[in-house]
Amino acid sequence: MRSTREQRATGKAAVPQPAEELRGVLLRGRYRLERVIRSGARAVVYQANDRQLRRRVAVKLVWSASASVAQRLQQEVRVHSALHHPAIPELLDVIDEAELHALVMEHVDGTDLDDLLEQLGRPMGLSRLRVLAAPVISALGYLHGRGIIHRDVKPANIVVYEHRLRERAKLIDFGVALERGRLPVEARIAPELVTGTLLYMSPEHFNAPESVDERSDIYSLGVTLFQMVTGTLPFYARSATAVRYAQTLEAPPSPRALNPDVEPGLEELILTALEKDPARRFQSADALRGALERLRDRPEGRWKRWRRRLAVSRPPRPRRWLDATTQVP
Ligand SMILES: Nc1ncnc2c1ncn2[C@@H]1O[C@H](COP(=O)(O)OP(=O)(O)OP(=O)(O)O)[C@@H](O)[C@H]1O
Ligand SMILES: [Mg+2]
Repeated sequence: MRSTREQRATGKAAVPQPAEELRGVLLRGRYRLERVIRSGARAVVYQANDRQLRRRVAVKLVWSASASVAQRLQQEVRVHSALHHPAIPELLDVIDEAELHALVMEHVDGTDLDDLLEQLGRPMGLSRLRVLAAPVISALGYLHGRGIIHRDVKPANIVVYEHRLRERAKLIDFGVALERGRLPVEARIAPELVTGTLLYMSPEHFNAPESVDERSDIYSLGVTLFQMVTGTLPFYARSATAVRYAQTLEAPPSPRALNPDVEPGLEELILTALEKDPARRFQSADALRGALERLRDRPEGRWKRWRRRLAVSRPPRPRRWLDATTQVP
């Protein structure tokens, strides 16, 4: 007979369960939840052990009685299951039972870029940025080529890991991805709201969500690159309205003013990605990749300066609701 914990985990519980309480639970007699990787408003991601194939997996678990959450997950499954790219974790299984919905994915044994930047506490240099950005740009090019816009590119949705002593990165979280020719999932759930992450949202995503295309992902990646090389965000304010105003109307600060070691070419690249008008940005992931490859590293001697901790003023850690994937009016 199944234990009470297993019964809860197979969808018999009526209310959301605290993430920690599910540690040790066996899902469908196969996936043993081992530890919480991250617990968010909607989902909890666990590291788990697939007892059948004897490998580590990631389980993104959503407890919900609400139809909208289930719809959103179905959308994520539809998008993610068709993706096969080295910089995107494979979707391995789906659990869809009563009030328990979960995605089982390839586990990326690393740290998301949000936590990595926090741990580092200082900006990254060009060569590391290039190593981490290249696979993400490649994954975006792949998505865009299939008519999919990610709509939530940000450090928390990039996982950095090590393979054969080299750092690599994968793009995750297709929870709000938009497929060409289909209504965004929120149009069915809450059409008056914009879905995405405020601090990384392009101006058109805010102001004309129905018009977003791949250049909106380029903008969000621009915010991410800005953060990687300066340790701070281009636009930060305490209210959603103020962030929206800044993203829409204010020019971003110069990355070199915040960190003088940013190469002029890298500054230009980031500011191009952050152009308000999509027509002035890189028009494709491929164009961005080319520009990044053409940048030259600084001469050897200057690298030593990176070792010095840079006194870059960082904004306070964004309040959770600004930093999280949300729906804003
Ligand atoms: N396949 C994976 N391997 C390792 N870690 C992962 C994996 N998928 C997710 N994570 C970790 O879990 C965190 C949350 O995952 P994800 O971004 O998919 O969900 P979410 O943002 O909470 O959900 P959503 O935005 O769809 O509401 C990530 O920031 C990352 O740290
Ligand atoms: Mg996420």
